[in-house]
Amino acid sequence: MAHHEALPVFADVDTGVDDAMALVYLIASSDAELVGVASTGGNVDVDQVCRNNLGLLELCRAGDIPVSRGAEQPLADTMRTAEDTHGPAGLGYAELPAHDRKLTSYDSAEAWVRAAHAHPGELIGLVTGPLTNLALAARAEPELPSLLRRLAIMGGSFDYRGNTTPVSEWNISVDPEAAAEVFAVWGRAAESKAIEPHQLPTVCGLNLTENIALTPAILSRLANAAEASSVAMSVLDARGTRSVADNPLIRALEDAMRFYFEFHFDQGEGYLAHLHDPLAAAVALDPGIVATRATTVDVELTGTLTRGMTIADWSRRWGREPNAHIGVDVDPAAFFDRFIERVGPFARRLVHS
Ligand code: RIB
Ligand code: CA
Repeated sequence: MAHHEALPVFADVDTGVDDAMALVYLIASSDAELVGVASTGGNVDVDQVCRNNLGLLELCRAGDIPVSRGAEQPLADTMRTAEDTHGPAGLGYAELPAHDRKLTSYDSAEAWVRAAHAHPGELIGLVTGPLTNLALAARAEPELPSLLRRLAIMGGSFDYRGNTTPVSEWNISVDPEAAAEVFAVWGRAAESKAIEPHQLPTVCGLNLTENIALTPAILSRLANAAEASSVAMSVLDARGTRSVADNPLIRALEDAMRFYFEFHFDQGEGYLAHLHDPLAAAVALDPGIVATRATTVDVELTGTLTRGMTIADWSRRWGREPNAHIGVDVDPAAFFDRFIERVGPFARRLVHS
């Protein structure tokens, strides 16, 4: 649902559990108009990402938002997926409704370009998966950086450990070449003054997003905001216990998040879930929700131990123009308040409208 000053947003996702939460946040936000969804392989293969994106739009009763299919493989590596983290179909235990929605006839790189041309200088880009399709789009349309009003990326890890190798974060690790190309393209656009500083990507790395720890108690607040009958989850529940929420969106989010809680618990991180992508979506709509520092970022491509590592040149050793705003701090409570006050009423309206 969007109103007159809604900002056009294009989301490039590898829908997985937290990508799904990010898409729901955008659809529920009245200051955003989701004008396109690109599907990039990552958490699950690209065709499953497509199915998840189409089914999620149906679940949210969204309009006819174009969903495109992205590249099957990263630029240089072979595709890796993460069903252990997000479940065999990428959405944990959640099941999505049947529908007759179809993919666009054109691919995701083309979809980026079409959306940017349709909303020149106004389109907000969000990437919460590998950067393959954004890199391909920038090859197809070299003006892309100046056609976007803003770009938010969930990816990387800055002065912080990785979650895929000891030093690399999943989205960057799946396609390091694409990430390096994106940072280089936006860096060159900044150096040539083709873009303003605010058009540089705001990058939400694990150092930032792992502050956003969803717990069963917070998820209960969401169900309450949707006036949904729901039972608070517990680590003591049998694995795979299904939500009994009487709201279809809350039920799907609870079933998706339970798998994610179980994964984090098994990793020794507690019965919680880091909401990487929803934070990036909130940043896309309002960069002021996080503290950032502008610097130059690059990606290690040839390191035996460090391929996929994102490096921030805080001490300006490289002498290159800043090409990113790195998220360095966030107030988790402020984020969860905003998430719940948007998604809760949206979910309620799905059943009480
Ligand atoms: O490393 C976290 C990121 O990888 C998130 O976007 C998650 O959805 C996965 O894509
Ligand atoms: Ca993702």
